[in-house]
Parts: sequence; C-alpha cells; structure tokens
Amino acid sequence: MGLPLEAAAEAPRVALAPGLSYVPGYLDGAAQAGLLAEIERALAEGPWYRPCMPRSGRPLSVQMTNCGPLGWVSDERGYRYQARHPTTGRPWPAIPETALRAWAELCAYPHPPEACLVNFYDASAKLGQHQDHDEEDLSAPVISLSLGATCVFRYGGVSRRDPTHKLELHSGDAIVLGGPARLIYHGVDKIRAGSSDLVPGGGRINLTLRRVTCPANGRTFQS
Ligand code: SIN
Ligand code: MN
Repeated sequence: MGLPLEAAAEAPRVALAPGLSYVPGYLDGAAQAGLLAEIERALAEGPWYRPCMPRSGRPLSVQMTNCGPLGWVSDERGYRYQARHPTTGRPWPAIPETALRAWAELCAYPHPPEACLVNFYDASAKLGQHQDHDEEDLSAPVISLSLGATCVFRYGGVSRRDPTHKLELHSGDAIVLGGPARLIYHGVDKIRAGSSDLVPGGGRINLTLRRVTCPANGRTFQS
C-alpha cells in the first residue's frame, strides 16, 4: 500500500543539521500498517537473523534482514553487501513499495535504492555509534523509516569526537542523512518499552534505504 501524496506533502521537514532532515509523522497510521504488512511478507522469504561483529564474532542485540538486490551483512569476515541471505542462501525479497515511495519523495537522487536494511529491536536491543560507509555511492542519501516502539536515536558529526544529540524517533518518523550529514555517526541508545503495540511483541523495526553502487561506474543491479 502506498503513501498518499498529500500526506507526504504535509509532513514537515525539520533541518537538524546541514544534510540531516527529520520528518516526524512521515507515514500516517494506515501507511505504517501497510509497510508492516509488506515487511511481514518479506520476512516469509528472508527471515530475521542475528548478525555478529567482525573478528570477535560477538552477536549484535539487533536482529536483521534485508530487501532489495543487495543486503548489508556483518559477520566474522567483516561488513559487506551481498545478493543473498546469509542463512537461507536465497536472494533478498523486493524492497517494499512504501519504502520505494519514501525514497522517491524524500530524496532527489535519480536512481533507485539497491538495499533496504531492516533492523528489529526488542526492548533490550541497542545499536552502537557507527557510520554507514560501506556504499560506493556516497552522493545518495540514506533514508530511515521507523515503525513500532519509540527509540532514543543519538547522532553526532562526521568525527567520532563530535558532540552528539538525542532525538526520540516514533513510529512513522523518517530521517534523511545526505550531503554533509551522509557520514555522520549515529546509533540507537535505547528502546522505550511499551510505547507502541504496532509491531507484534512491542518491538521496533527500522528500515534504512541505501544506494550501494555508482551508476557512473556502470555497476548497477537495477538499471
Ligand atoms: C541503522 O543505523 O542501521 C539503523 C538506525 C535506526 O535503527 O534508527
Ligand atoms: Mn546506520
């Protein structure tokens, strides 16, 4: 189910920093339910798995899956994009229509996203401060969509030493990390347990849409 254009046009964009936009309530209730249904269909093809840290092999508290021609994975061998699910060996399912619509509406980049990382947070999950820098084409923004429980999102600058700020992300909120904010550090400090019952069990789902390859290099998966 797609997002009505009027709803997107009405959602105000808040500039948090150059290149960093926050769109509270970007997805209305119906669009959130529609996106969740699309994710549930994708999970039947590409289920959650628990990634682990490079080298140490320590498991992350966040469970992950991906949609799209490429998916971001983390395991003992490192971080990378790959075309197949690490446990089923099958191609990732298609990116949800609602997420493709968000990409078209929220960023001016002229090519489709190739990867949609889908993170699942239970009440105790968190995600350490990191940069999204495994993509070849850093001219494309990363678009984040949140569903379910509220989280405390923390973001800083392009240096790990830059001051950080907290922002509560609610179900339906979108974030755009582009331009000078494309490589900022960010992570999830905490999930506010009991804040939403949209996601079964009260968890939080976050989608991040990324362009991975540079069309200018002739390496594309969709065109
Ligand atoms: C991510 O950086 O992969 C996800 C961020 C979030 O869950 O809001
Ligand atoms: Mn990230």
